[in-house]
Amino acid sequence: MHVVYPGSFDPLHNGHFDVIQRASRLFGKVTVAVLENPSKRNFWLFAPQERVEIIRQAIAAARLTNVEVDSFHGLLAEYMRRVNARVIVKGLRAVSDYETELQMAHLNRQYGNHPETLFIMAATRWSFVSSTMVKEIARYGGDVSKLVPPATAEALRAKLSTIGG
Ligand code: PNS
Repeated sequence: MHVVYPGSFDPLHNGHFDVIQRASRLFGKVTVAVLENPSKRNFWLFAPQERVEIIRQAIAAARLTNVEVDSFHGLLAEYMRRVNARVIVKGLRAVSDYETELQMAHLNRQYGNHPETLFIMAATRWSFVSSTMVKEIARYGGDVSKLVPPATAEALRAKLSTIGG
């Protein structure tokens, strides 16, 4: 089965990567789909192509041969239709994620090719990690190497040295 794991991934952290690895063991093909909608652009640290590249490097390092990376804009359900996939995979960390995810799952099913959403419960050790916190810790000079794959840690170092984070 071909599943799509969508997200902002700004940037990829170990919680995301755990979901990618577990999905790759369960399903025949996993497409990690990076959101490029411009509405959130001002809040992004990495451009869509940079986020795609980080994920590509992490996937290559772990030799996940059935995982590919793509980016999309517009409605996720329309993207699902375009790539002919019927199942969205999402990670769930805590009850606080549930409400939004429930809403998105129900709404997505009303558009495009009516995709179903399957949830993978985040591993407890990563359940408190978020891209927002990773960026904040990195910006203030904290070590994020235990929270993110090496490709992300390297990209954060390069990005923050360019923008003087
Ligand atoms: O990593 P995130 O920010 O939690 O991912 C959210 C994402 C990208 C899955 C969600 O914002 C999304 O699907 N956006 C695409 C636009 C869309 O389809 N919106 C309606 C969802 S009901």
